[in-house]
Amino acid sequence: MVLRSLSLILLLLAPLGRATADDFISEVPLGLDWVRVPDGNPQTAAKVALGRRLFFDPQLSRDKSISCASCHDPEQGWSLSTPVAKGVDGRTGERNPLSIINTGLQHSLFWDGRAKTLEEQALEPIQNRVEMDMDLRELEKRLAADPAYVVQFQESFAGDVTAERVTQAIAAFERTLLAAETPYDLFRNGRATAMDDQMSRGSGVFFSRANCGDCHIAKVLTDHQFHDTGIGASPQKIRTPMLRDLERTAPYMHDGSLTTLRDVVDYYDRGGNRRDGLDVRMRPLGLSKSEKEDLLYFLEAGLRSRNYPGRETDAGMASATNSP
Ligand code: HEC
Ligand code: HEC
Repeated sequence: MVLRSLSLILLLLAPLGRATADDFISEVPLGLDWVRVPDGNPQTAAKVALGRRLFFDPQLSRDKSISCASCHDPEQGWSLSTPVAKGVDGRTGERNPLSIINTGLQHSLFWDGRAKTLEEQALEPIQNRVEMDMDLRELEKRLAADPAYVVQFQESFAGDVTAERVTQAIAAFERTLLAAETPYDLFRNGRATAMDDQMSRGSGVFFSRANCGDCHIAKVLTDHQFHDTGIGASPQKIRTPMLRDLERTAPYMHDGSLTTLRDVVDYYDRGGNRRDGLDVRMRPLGLSKSEKEDLLYFLEAGLRSRNYPGRETDAGMASATNSP
């Protein structure tokens, strides 16, 4: 109770819904931190619209068959419902596509954190042989041949089509894809009745009994760190994922090897696959049948967002821009 009123006071003190600095998106769904916008790539409505168009455009791939959305499909949680994805010529990668919802809040990108910014990240799939396999100079030529793109790049950057601006526009679009305001978020922000009894019990299992919160820490449910949880053929440290709208993003884990959330709960319950390097927090939990049901219910219903961005919709308040 003390804690809750403290956070309420902090909330009231916070300058709600106003951008106090030029380089944050402050109008985010309840439960999320402000989204940092890097110097040199301010959000504008024109740029976000351009980024959206680029994201859905298969011209970004060598044979014009694959867009970013081919692997990050809004209908499949901005991810894919298969373990791995197919790129040009049906070439397959080895990892489960990450959902790009709330990706603007990540401290590093990819399952192994190898990219630091969304601008830098976008260069990889465009050029990756098993994804879009596109040459950047060819991409510039192709887009510059389209008069509508030329106009949009002028509006967004007061300049020509360049590969760097392609990634800047896509990144600006991605920063608007936010979802939260789950029962869990409402509860944490003082709405005492937002979670029903089973959700509260499930959240107790999550944060106390099963210690999931050791790594999936409030509020975005990640510590932004890397751990070996025993998934995959060889020991490797993987970034702790954020956990929201999980029902939309099956299968789970970096290799897509766990098909359902029930499989995930069972996997943690047995302590993961024992091997050298396994994180010490992975241990058999001995959850009862009802504890598992409660945990599952929390993961599904307790973390279900109120407004989930679709293909066309601007995600709630997140469409707000901070252009000068
Ligand atoms: C052929 C499938 C495929 C295509 C096409 C593709 N991606 Fe991905 N994307 C993936 C996979 C797989 C991962 C995870 C890879 C990894 O972590 O090594 C990923 C990861 C990401 C991430 C990291 C998210 C995070 O939270 O760390 C972002 C952002 C992203 N993709 C954006 C894009 C953009 C933008 C495009 C288009 C320019 C694109 N992707 C095209 C499959 C694809
Ligand atoms: C030691 C830190 C740690 C603990 C403890 C932990 N997790 Fe995880 N969690 C991770 C990491 C790291 C991954 C990604 C693993 C991978 O893909 O190889 C992950 C993945 C997941 C995923 C899959 C998300 C996706 O998008 O694929 C879910 C769901 C999940 N954890 C839920 C839980 C639950 C429930 C608990 C408690 C029973 C828990 N985690 C405990 C670190 C942890």
